Amino acid sequence: MSAGVLGTGHYVPENVVTNKDMEKIVETSDEWIRSRTGIEERRYAPDDMDTSDMAYKAALGALEEAGVAAADIDLILVATVTPDTPFPSVSNLLQDRLGATKAAAMDVSAACSGFMYGMITAKQFIDTNAYQHVLVIGVEKLSKITDWTDRSTCVLFGDGAGAAVIGNVSDGKGILSFELGSDGSGGKHLYQDKDDHLQMNGREVFKFAVRQMPESSVNVVEKIGFNKEDVDYLIPHQANMRIMEAARERLGISEDKMATSVKKYGNTSAASIPIALSESVKDGKIKDNDLVVLVGFGGGLTWGAVALRWGR
Ligand code: UT7
Repeated sequence: MSAGVLGTGHYVPENVVTNKDMEKIVETSDEWIRSRTGIEERRYAPDDMDTSDMAYKAALGALEEAGVAAADIDLILVATVTPDTPFPSVSNLLQDRLGATKAAAMDVSAACSGFMYGMITAKQFIDTNAYQHVLVIGVEKLSKITDWTDRSTCVLFGDGAGAAVIGNVSDGKGILSFELGSDGSGGKHLYQDKDDHLQMNGREVFKFAVRQMPESSVNVVEKIGFNKEDVDYLIPHQANMRIMEAARERLGISEDKMATSVKKYGNTSAASIPIALSESVKDGKIKDNDLVVLVGFGGGLTWGAVALRWGR
């Protein structure tokens, strides 16, 4: 047995905000946003919907798809940089709301790489047989830390949640290798300022991402003795189509084999990979036995990747 994905779920708010709508908020254009980022629209949660509300909806979907009852969850890991409040954690709130009576709960802070950190942490508890079911969620309400006067960041981000239940799958399937990393010297390029706003040096983060995502993707595949040509499906952090395209081209895989939900949802930070994973499963893009690579990067700076053989 090894740790793998038993079920996925996601939730995005109903409120669609197009690039044309953004033109009314800051001096920008649909053409600039599309050509520099690939983003066409994003979703913002209403004032009365907080991070834990979106996480709850995504979690219900993942539990249902997995066929696992909330009472059978041993641990809840929530990756977010926009919790309802610093404490209690979003995972604590969910533990109660889901009725996950025996679950331990903690939030994971690794910005856009948070879901990868959560998933790989979950794997350790499953592999050591300490736990049977870990619920991992990536969720953000970035609209509450967005500086609406800064056109270089406000057009990029969106709100949403994605979830996965991690548990035992048959031999040869599941998470076969992983990589995690941190370079705190780059923290100055992406952070939350004293006014609680997100600040980013886009060019520096871009350079880092274009180098790191392809490198980590190749590393996790080579660790298990495969070549990049063997990758069936790629789910990169959905930050910018240009960065994602660089990773795809380096792996040499065709366009239809990469998730591209950034177009519809913008950059949802820790939520982007699990939303893209859940959508890809529902759309039938990932098939049994596919070699799937998930790879993220983000503030910290942080990064993380897994190679997994899909199926139970
Ligand atoms: O998940 C977190 C990870 N974050 C990221 O992945 C972001 C990584 N970085 C990026 O995606 C890109 O750097 C951006 C999309 C943020 C920016 O693209 P860029 O090609 O690096 O543009 P730039 O920052 O070099 O800006 C080019 C120009 C500037 O004007 P000048 O100085 O050349 O006159 C900006 O002021 O574009 C201007 N600009 C805009 N123009 C219209 C910046 N934002 C906008 C905007 N609309 N929204």
